[in-house]
This record gives sequence, structure tokens and C-alpha cells, in this order.
Amino acid sequence: MTDLVLGIESSCDDTAAAVVRAGHEILSSVVHTQAAEHAPFGGVVPEIAGRSHLRSILPVVDEALDGAGVRLDQLAGIAVTHRPGLVGSLLVGLSAAKALAFTRGLPLVGVHHIEAHVYAATMEAPGTVSYPCVALVVSGGHTALYRAESPLHMTQLAATLDDAAGEAFDKVAYLLGLPYPGGPSISALAEEGDPTAFKFPRYRAKDGSIGFSFSGLKTAVLYHVRGGDALAPTPPPEEIPQRADVAASFQETVVENLVRPTLRCAQEEGVGQVLVAGGVACNQRLREVLGERGRESGLEVFFPSPAYSTDNAAMIAGLGWQHLAAGARDGWDLDAHPS
Ligand code: KG4
Ligand code: ZN
Repeated sequence: MTDLVLGIESSCDDTAAAVVRAGHEILSSVVHTQAAEHAPFGGVVPEIAGRSHLRSILPVVDEALDGAGVRLDQLAGIAVTHRPGLVGSLLVGLSAAKALAFTRGLPLVGVHHIEAHVYAATMEAPGTVSYPCVALVVSGGHTALYRAESPLHMTQLAATLDDAAGEAFDKVAYLLGLPYPGGPSISALAEEGDPTAFKFPRYRAKDGSIGFSFSGLKTAVLYHVRGGDALAPTPPPEEIPQRADVAASFQETVVENLVRPTLRCAQEEGVGQVLVAGGVACNQRLREVLGERGRESGLEVFFPSPAYSTDNAAMIAGLGWQHLAAGARDGWDLDAHPS
């Protein structure tokens, strides 16, 4: 068996393929983003996503194989995201992976998208993470804390009660008249704003438990933008008072809402390392604050580089190799699951 794995990812709005050697050496990683197709709607439209994956999947796989200089018959196997995600989107990657694996007689293995995001934080520096550790997953669809016993075994400890952090960035960006995806555009505008200008509500669970919530914060921004009347129309961007200050204060509150529970969780679990994963892990302010406060608490915090924080197939191929090396194989009945 060679140690080359082709990874395929299509769970949301990125069509991606990658070739990775031995779980960590990335030979190619191709991501075709559909952001421009969804931008007019301020979020991902499932029907558009599925159709767009269908157009891109084979060219993206070809580009990944060509970029790595690898032929299908040189692969040890094919790893594909099969959960969680939009079912119509997942099915496109899954069908392509099954067809390629079946016709070439290659092993197929299904990979959990969230576990792969967490694995991404360890992939670029193999051997530096010691288990157990705590993982914070912050993406457009998930905001949750996990205890990871190994790359293949994770247990969820806490999750958001409502929106995911990335979703809050995307919705608030839409309100502020900023382009989708909202995370990068809010961060850019926040550079010009004062993060202390507004005291937006910080989440604290009534029963004192560890958790996340972003709906109160989102509503507070909505009230501000609409001049205190939630039912009023959203004004054009140039008429929103202190727009950059709103962006900066919102971002600061999201970061605080993520950092506090994460540090507490790591402390309660008695671990020394925290892995951060998902698109929101690209956020510079989150990197600064969690890195610094982690150090003060004696914790080492690992972030993947931005290219491997957002959706990509290198993390799928990497974790897929771990599964294959542990003897896992899936059958042709491997199915797509939304959760
Ligand atoms: O992990 P990801 O690529 O896709 C999902 O699985 O959801 O995450 C996408 C999310 C989007 O909501 C996007 O706004 C957010 O990640 N994001 C950011 C930044 N870059 C991307 N959020 C905050 N700051 C950023 N720099
Ligand atoms: Zn993701």
C-alpha cells in the first residue's frame, strides 16, 4: 500500500480535492469556492450549492491529481466527507468518490467534516499535539467544544444554543451591507473601528454551564442598525451610524464569547493544549486574544494556517489516511448525513 490519499470535500459551498501523503504531507489542495454564486443571497442556497458542486467536482479532482503528479492507481485510498453538511452537496462528492474508488478498486473511507477540521490544526505540525486535548470548532455551521482523545475519537462537551459564530458574522455583515462571507469583510471594516464603542451583550448561561449563544448579540446589532426599532427597514450602509465601530465591537464580543468558555473548558478538562478549527479560526483578533489569554493560563493554542482553517480537502485526506491506517473501510452503502 502506498501512503497517498485523495480527499474529496463538498459538504457546503466549497468543492475541494487534495492529495496528502501519510496523513500530513500536502501534495496538492484545490478549493473551488462558490462564494460569488451565493453572495447575492447573504448565505448559502442549498439548491445552488448542489448544482455548482456537480459542475466542479471532476475538474477539481483532476486538478488535485495533476497538481500532485499522482495517478489514481498510485493511491492507497479515497477519503470523502459524508457528514455533516447539506445532503444535496455531500451526495455529489460522495458519488464521485464512490465511482472513482469502485472503478479503480480502491478502498473508500467516509470522514466526519468536523473531526477533519480539528485534525487540520495538527496536520501542519505533526507530533506536536499531545492527547487528550480540547478542540474549539468555529465555522459557518458549528460552534462547539470537544474533548479529543486522539484524532479519531472526539466527544462533544458543549455547543451553541442557536447560531454558529460564522453564521453570526455572515448575518451581521448582511445587515451592515458588507459582502458574503461576512467574517473577512467584518474583520476588514473592524480595523477602522473602535472595539469599545458599543457594549453588546456577552453570553453567560443562566445555570453557569459552559456554552455559546449569538442570537442576543445579533439582535442587539439589529436594534442599533434599525435605530431601536427591530421592525423598521434596514437603512442603506452609508446611513448606518458608526458602522466601523459596530463591526469592531461586534467582533470583539464574538471573540470574548468564544475565548471565555474555551479557556474554562480546557481548565475543567485538565488539558494543556487547545486546537482551534473552522473558518472563524481565520479571524486575526480571535488568534491574538485566544493565543495571549491561553499563554497566561499556561495553555498552548494551535490554529491551522488560514488555507486549512476554512473548508478544504487536505484535512479530509489527512484524517482519511489515519482511518485507513487504523484499518477502517467503508462499503458502497456509505451514505450522506446532515448531522
Ligand atoms: O469552515 P468553513 O469554511 O465552512 C463551514 O464548514 O461552515 O467556515 C465558513 C465561515 C463563514 O461563516 C465565514 O464568515 C467565517 O467562516 N470566516 C470568518 C473569517 N473567515 C471566514 N469569520 C471571522 N473572521 C474571519 N476572518
Ligand atoms: Zn467546515
